[in-house]
Amino acid sequence: MRLLLFGAPGVGKGTHGKRLAQERGIPHISTGDILRESIRLATPVGVKAKAYMGTGGLVPDEIVIGIIEERFGKGDVGKGYLLDGFPRTVPQADALHALLARLARPLQAVLLLECPDSAIVERITGRRTCEKCGTPYHVIFQKPRQEGICDLDGVRLVQREDDTEVKVRTRLAKYHTETAAIIPFYEKQGIVRRVDSFRAPDEVYRTIESEVANL
Ligand code: AP5
Repeated sequence: MRLLLFGAPGVGKGTHGKRLAQERGIPHISTGDILRESIRLATPVGVKAKAYMGTGGLVPDEIVIGIIEERFGKGDVGKGYLLDGFPRTVPQADALHALLARLARPLQAVLLLECPDSAIVERITGRRTCEKCGTPYHVIFQKPRQEGICDLDGVRLVQREDDTEVKVRTRLAKYHTETAAIIPFYEKQGIVRRVDSFRAPDEVYRTIESEVANL
């Protein structure tokens, strides 16, 4: 399965992407997760990215394109891959297209998750994330079994630095002005499948499963 999960911040890409990739035994490739890990390790990329992510802005294209080229160079995408959060600009989409053509591993489908902005603000401000594995929870909608602790590895849940209302609104604006402009590029290829994510998480996941059943 060679899939891109696309959509605004907080629409559920991480929630469903991690689960689906694990069930299919393919890598979940999230530029947000890779950037946060780089910041945690204070690598040169992490130091550069921190300033952009801290304000809710986008990290420059050359940095994230470099990250993706390096990630696909690891050679574990033979069975497929699930991309989450990349591409986010037209130059990123062009670079990805060229990279996947070179590797002869083109995208089979783009799942476009859709949810109203008002619900997204509520989701993101209530999100808590595992410090270790990045699994997202929600203080109301998706509670862990034990408050403040990840179900999967028992590690503390934290609030992401960019999960404040002001920063979410900046991220949503970026999505609508820059990232959504990529959708026609994939629509022209006939690979976009729209999924209403303004429903209970398990219901959304069942729809996603049926959309990708033949991939
Ligand atoms: P990134 O980490 O990719 O963040 P994002 O796209 O803003 O997406 P989120 O992680 O916020 O949301 P999600 O869709 O994964 O939702 P989730 O499943 O967690 O990027 C962060 C930053 O890194 C960017 O702002 C940018 O600075 C930089 N960056 C990353 N990639 C880049 C790129 N390519 N180019 C440039 N810069 C880049 O769900 C959200 C919450 O809702 C959770 O609490 C969850 O429990 C809850 N929830 C999920 N589904 C439901 C549901 N159906 N009902 C109720 N609650 C739900």
